[in-house]
Amino acid sequence: MPSTTGNPPIRLLRNPGLDRNAPYGPAEQWVLNRTRHREVLREIRSWPGYRATPLKDLPHIAQRAGVRRLWYKDEADRFGLGSFKALGGAYGVLRVIQGEVERLTGARGGETVPTGREIMGGAHRELASAITVTCATDGNHGRSVAWGSGTDMFGCQCKIYLPAAVSAPREAAIAAYGADVVRTDSEYDEAVRQSQRDARQHGWFVVSDTSYPAYVNIPRDVMQGYTVMVAEILEQLPANDRPSHIFLQGGVGGLAAAFVAHLWETQGPARPITVIVEPHRADCLFKSAAAGRPTTITDVHGTIMAGLACGEVSLLAWYVLERGADAFLTIDDDAARWAMRLLAREDVPVVAGESGAAGLAGLLSLADDPVSRDTIDLDPSSSVLVIGTEGATDRERYDAIIGGGPPATG
Ligand SMILES: Cc1ncc(COP(=O)(O)O)c(C=O)c1O
Repeated sequence: MPSTTGNPPIRLLRNPGLDRNAPYGPAEQWVLNRTRHREVLREIRSWPGYRATPLKDLPHIAQRAGVRRLWYKDEADRFGLGSFKALGGAYGVLRVIQGEVERLTGARGGETVPTGREIMGGAHRELASAITVTCATDGNHGRSVAWGSGTDMFGCQCKIYLPAAVSAPREAAIAAYGADVVRTDSEYDEAVRQSQRDARQHGWFVVSDTSYPAYVNIPRDVMQGYTVMVAEILEQLPANDRPSHIFLQGGVGGLAAAFVAHLWETQGPARPITVIVEPHRADCLFKSAAAGRPTTITDVHGTIMAGLACGEVSLLAWYVLERGADAFLTIDDDAARWAMRLLAREDVPVVAGESGAAGLAGLLSLADDPVSRDTIDLDPSSSVLVIGTEGATDRERYDAIIGGGPPATG
């Protein structure tokens, strides 16, 4: 849709598959559920260095967007890794090791499966060190898997595949945890396939943040890890303020599904309106919603929002989003730059990378357009939550954008 407001252009689609009153049924429960949510909370909260990331109140930007309140969950410092992905990949690594302990020692049930703390303390060290985990990554997920595999955490071998476009600083951040990094000359989805082929050949365990037919258990754990953020936010919000809207970035859909699933399960039809935000040129969730089925797009190059540059949806995420998400929105790279600069200009500057600022960029891009506001029932009384999913994970690029003159808009 060409912009009538002077803001970067958007496309907005009310989810044709939405069924707001549908109960959170067995199929969705199988993907994500409260019981496993409680387990993951207990586990991750016990890790060294755990603390809830801040929930920031941004009144100036709220005013700019014409809403009553704007909450920003800032994941820049999550476990010192720079993004929310720290919650998923590392938990996936732990689940692989726990699964192997169960299989090889015959241990069964919660009592006998070692906790993360016990494995960090040396339980089953030999067994863990003989395991190799692998994944393909645009940066953030791989960093989490590499961290989880490192000797300070669960101590296994790690092989990370990078698509061609991943920058050198992001590669260095992964290698710093001792992972073996394989740079491919392909885009993300092909790097995923290469890691799968090599894993099959060598008996490695794929710890992917995306699911596909016959590969669902680990990505399910990874997504469950993300729900830690939702629990923190619900604890951090003032009792008298519940968000009416949440803008959630979409790559393969895992982050968005984690939020939608948990809120759908715990709040039913009273849950906030969820808007899934993608780059124009990596809009696999938008296209899937429009088509009513998972839809792959090719040629996802050319967005600065590297974490969102995905052409294939995660099947499990799609199960949740197809009926549970309210709307899908695509945005321009300029919108991400604009949001990053506005955040950097706050009285206490907020540092967000390109993908990290995309949720806010979605809100800002549609905020001046009455028709779009109407489509998602956004009005001056709305209280909006956005997730700052990453900090400056690539410092050079961040500095180039923030130092790059006045905001594109606004
Ligand atoms: C910073 C950032 N935000 C959002 C996302 C999107 O998450 P998902 O792929 O689970 O949809 C990613 C994915 O890598 C990311 O790195």
